[in-house]
Amino acid sequence: MNPVRIVGFAGSLRDRSLNRILLEIVGERVSREARFESIDLFDIPLYNADVEEQGEPDAVVALRSAVREADGVLIATPEYSHGTSGVLKNTLDWLARGDKPRALEGKPVGIMGASPGRFGTRRAQADVRQTLAVLGAYTMVRPWLMVYEAKTRLSADGTRDEALERRLAAFTSSFLSWVERIGAGA
Ligand SMILES: Cc1cc2nc3c(=O)[nH]c(=O)nc-3n(C[C@H](O)[C@H](O)[C@H](O)COP(=O)(O)O)c2cc1C
Repeated sequence: MNPVRIVGFAGSLRDRSLNRILLEIVGERVSREARFESIDLFDIPLYNADVEEQGEPDAVVALRSAVREADGVLIATPEYSHGTSGVLKNTLDWLARGDKPRALEGKPVGIMGASPGRFGTRRAQADVRQTLAVLGAYTMVRPWLMVYEAKTRLSADGTRDEALERRLAAFTSSFLSWVERIGAGA
């Protein structure tokens, strides 16, 4: 049987991004049971219909086909001004384009996020959910994974507290079950 394929991206370009660290940590857990590929968004340009008409940039074509071929998508969102990042919204706008059915149509998606503050991207995640609903994605209903006070709880070498460990484990297994259920037409 072919392995389950998961792709993931984080809506931050920052080298020491908390959300890229979170994606790496959860991606490592996912890769114990599925094939996981993390996609960088550095080369995704700002959406511009003129650019689209002239021929889509390679990075957009590659991202869209990776999403199309995946069984599920993991998204880590930062929070900026009570919404998601421009980087992530722009990426979702590109994914809203292309041949129908759109790349995220019917796709199981897990959302998570990390922020230094006390709310851990709750508002950004609500924002992303709204956009994903329009794109026809099946966003995992629960659990939500909000890593608050992330500067002290996440680090590049993956150290974090025990309560967070348990939440990461619960999120990962729920996400993989969600992918399986949606893939089976549940
Ligand atoms: C312009 C700006 C607005 C921000 N607004 C929020 C916010 O509304 N809520 C929040 O929790 N953090 C906010 N932050 C802090 C970010 O969550 C923080 O910079 C975070 O580390 C960004 O994600 P990253 O580490 O993945 O790059 C804001 C940061 C900036 C620069």
